[in-house]
Amino acid sequence: MLERGTYLMESVVACGNCHTAKGGPMARHELAGGFQMKEGPIDAITPNLTPDKKTGIGNWTDAQLIVAIRDGKRPDGSLIGPPMPYDMYRGLSDRNTKAIIAYLRNLKPVKNATRNSPT
Ligand code: HEC
Repeated sequence: MLERGTYLMESVVACGNCHTAKGGPMARHELAGGFQMKEGPIDAITPNLTPDKKTGIGNWTDAQLIVAIRDGKRPDGSLIGPPMPYDMYRGLSDRNTKAIIAYLRNLKPVKNATRNSPT
């Protein structure tokens, strides 16, 4: 699973294009969030996808992550705003989604609290 997840993350799904900061202290922490996306109506900071329990996805279950990735909903029911491209991920198979989750769970936990975009 981890090998498949690594392949997907390094090629087609490319979560790190957005979820890894482009500069500043977080840039060296893969997928720890903090990339500010501001263009037109979009004003978002990408969240931390490392397994940190407080500021990342450490306490999310697999089922919750699957819903977030494919349907754009958080465990509390709130919608994940654009530009999180869940429309593109909707067609991911269970197997590929779980491979992505295996990859996320294998990351080093990094503390980085970000805010959700106002929706
Ligand atoms: C084009 C940029 C982009 C890509 C690519 C992307 N995301 Fe996101 N994602 C975002 C943004 C921006 C948010 C926050 C939106 C908001 O604040 O409402 C987000 C939110 C999330 C959340 C909610 C986290 C939370 O704490 O609220 C999860 C989980 C997530 N993304 C997982 C992924 C995964 C896994 C991938 C790859 C399969 C991925 N994202 C690819 C931009 C992206």
